Amino acid sequence: MTERSTDSPAALAARWRADLERWAIPAEIAANAPVNPWGHAVDRFARRTDASLARPGGPTFERVLAALPEGGTLLDVGAGTGAAGLPAAKDRRARLIAVDENAGMLARLGELSPEAVTIEGRWPDIADKVPVADVAMCAHVVFNVPDLAEFFAALTAHARRRVVVELPEEHPTSWAAPLWAHFHGVTRPVTPTARDAVDLAAAMGHDVDEETYPAPDDLFESVEELAGSACRRLCLDPARAAEVADAALVLGVWPLPPRRWTTMSWEVC
Ligand SMILES: C[S@@+](CC[C@H](N)C(=O)[O-])C[C@H]1O[C@@H](n2cnc3c(N)ncnc32)[C@H](O)[C@@H]1O
Repeated sequence: MTERSTDSPAALAARWRADLERWAIPAEIAANAPVNPWGHAVDRFARRTDASLARPGGPTFERVLAALPEGGTLLDVGAGTGAAGLPAAKDRRARLIAVDENAGMLARLGELSPEAVTIEGRWPDIADKVPVADVAMCAHVVFNVPDLAEFFAALTAHARRRVVVELPEEHPTSWAAPLWAHFHGVTRPVTPTARDAVDLAAAMGHDVDEETYPAPDDLFESVEELAGSACRRLCLDPARAAEVADAALVLGVWPLPPRRWTTMSWEVC
């Protein structure tokens, strides 16, 4: 087992926040962004949900299922279109409570699962309006969360049995670092990582069980799809997608190397 940090929760939370702040897009570049560079394409996440419903499985699914009673309740924070929570909720005929700040994601989730309860808002700001569930989970959200200690505390307070968190080992846009250097001369950070999130949860007093494994799917289906996403992330005009695709091939960004994910969980007593 990897050794855990002995730093205090306050120090680890402050480091997480400071590391994430260094991912901010320089103001002069963001000023020219044609669209929100941090936005998500609903269609891409809906595809991910279709795939996970067709082939449910993996460490997150198994850990949620093991603690979720038949007919119970599952809270999925940053649910998107439901890729992480919906398969387990369906398997256990559980009620899915899906929280997300993106109304478009929740609308698509509502089409896929009309019985799901959807609550729009930012976690933990809206936690008071959200019921407690048997299991609270979140997948691929925490790299968007500066105040991670408060985020984890609210998840724990909303779970009767277990908290399950899935995240990539590295920042989800790390793949674009060579493109940032090429198009903007900007060096992207390499921290925080999943290890920092695990260390923080452990320092908060949770007995964290963690597992790291190969990601089950590819981030993009083609270099064209990667280029479209890169234009958004790098604040470039979408008309430059072909140029970005060429650069991705030359710089070795495409094909993307295999990614790894971490699933961490802790019991709530
Ligand atoms: C990368 S997507 C992941 C969606 C889904 N969990 C999955 O695994 O496919 C992240 C989602 O979290 C939402 N999100 C990010 N930070 C949030 C927060 N603090 N509160 C609520 N939703 C958040 C975004 O709107 C987005 O839909």
